Amino acid sequence: MSSPSTSTPGVRQADFRFRCIACGDLNQSASPDFRCLHCGDLLEITYPRWQPARPDAEELKSAWRERRLSQRAVDLSGVWRFRDLLPALDRDDQAVTLGEGNTPLYELPRCGRSTGVPRLLAKHQGMNPTASFKDTGMTVAATFARRAGFRWVACASTGNTSASMAAYAARGAMRGLVLVPEGKISWSKLSQAIDYGAVTCQLRTDFDGCLRLLQQLVLEAPVYQLNSINPFRLEGQKTLAFELLEQLDWREPDHIIVPGGNLGNSSAIGKALVEMRELGLISRLPRLSVVQAEGANALVRTLREAGGKRLVTVSAETRATAIRIGNPASWKKAVRVLEATGGACEQVSEIEIAQAKAEIGAEGIGCEPASAVTLAGLKKLLKQGFVKPEETVVLVLTGNVLKDPDFTIDFHRGDMFEPGTENAALSALRHPPIVLDATLDAVTRTLEQAEKSGS
Ligand code: F0G
Repeated sequence: MSSPSTSTPGVRQADFRFRCIACGDLNQSASPDFRCLHCGDLLEITYPRWQPARPDAEELKSAWRERRLSQRAVDLSGVWRFRDLLPALDRDDQAVTLGEGNTPLYELPRCGRSTGVPRLLAKHQGMNPTASFKDTGMTVAATFARRAGFRWVACASTGNTSASMAAYAARGAMRGLVLVPEGKISWSKLSQAIDYGAVTCQLRTDFDGCLRLLQQLVLEAPVYQLNSINPFRLEGQKTLAFELLEQLDWREPDHIIVPGGNLGNSSAIGKALVEMRELGLISRLPRLSVVQAEGANALVRTLREAGGKRLVTVSAETRATAIRIGNPASWKKAVRVLEATGGACEQVSEIEIAQAKAEIGAEGIGCEPASAVTLAGLKKLLKQGFVKPEETVVLVLTGNVLKDPDFTIDFHRGDMFEPGTENAALSALRHPPIVLDATLDAVTRTLEQAEKSGS
């Protein structure tokens, strides 16, 4: 067997540019706040070299396949394995990696039956090293932070970014500064940031307030910003789509559905789909749809009330705290990918989120509440006829079930909603823990009752 070729380079620094998404200004470097020096809008990474010297689709696919046989850290990463389409490393051992990516694509047979979509799949990004999709972007952005010589990296977060950043900062021997809204993130996520050694500040504001402050801080102090405003993050998060299509043997699904918060992830996945079509890796664009919580529905309102032309901000409130965001930074990028792929944007209620989360749990998979908006949104998109039952649908599950145990326990104990507001379908999904005397009789009776009730 020939040894796998791992030498295919990524895109050298000279070969990529930062491009402003509004005025199109092209630059070889970016300012500390990753905003355009002319108009202040967000930047994206672009690869002008692909025009005259387009990478060959079949060669890419075979290089990526071969690297799966390699034991080198850079090949074991489900992000850097696709490095041909990422900003290049100077050396392969430069990557700050925890073996991220490589996440499973699960079938959801029960949810498939209940929604009437037999080809329903879940790409579970909660199976990453810090248990959320953030790791795929963080490995790239942390690598470039270290390469640029930064001692401090920082983020504002609803929890998952902070957990991920803290871990990658530690792996890259950098210090991490975390700004989170006090009382509004789950203990699991807060405990991760602390465990990985970040300086963790609980600010008396919401996520949007934390991000505003961070944007000021990076202009004052030598601190590298690791929020998804940083376009290196989105380059890493693109690899979800490469890996997904590889898992599907390069047969395009009809729909990909993602939760929307700050809107970096939808933007990244959409960018990857467009690039894959440009490079001939796929021939058809799946529709990428974004689902938000009703209480944090800035993108939904931006599209419905302003035709996607200006951002309608909201004062966000939802128990899906990961997406409790009212002023999403990447809204323009998200509008653009919805337009490019013909995707939809929907919102779902707190009850719909809780029900969908319990249904995904009942598949033996589980996810955090923010991820469950995808299944809840799918039900709406089916009703509207936007998704057809015979189509292939992929839900992107962004976080692990262990990220928010309070939500799960409150729901199953019946402590989440006012009495009388739950419907029968919701109540039937609840499996509260049962406190019993430690006797054989008590346990046997409980078993018999459970068998009778079918629960
Ligand atoms: N799902 C989970 C589990 C998240 O943590 C987030 C965002 C999203 C979905 C939304 O993704 O912001 O790219 O649209 N969490 C960020 C954080 C904001 O700080 O952890 P998005």
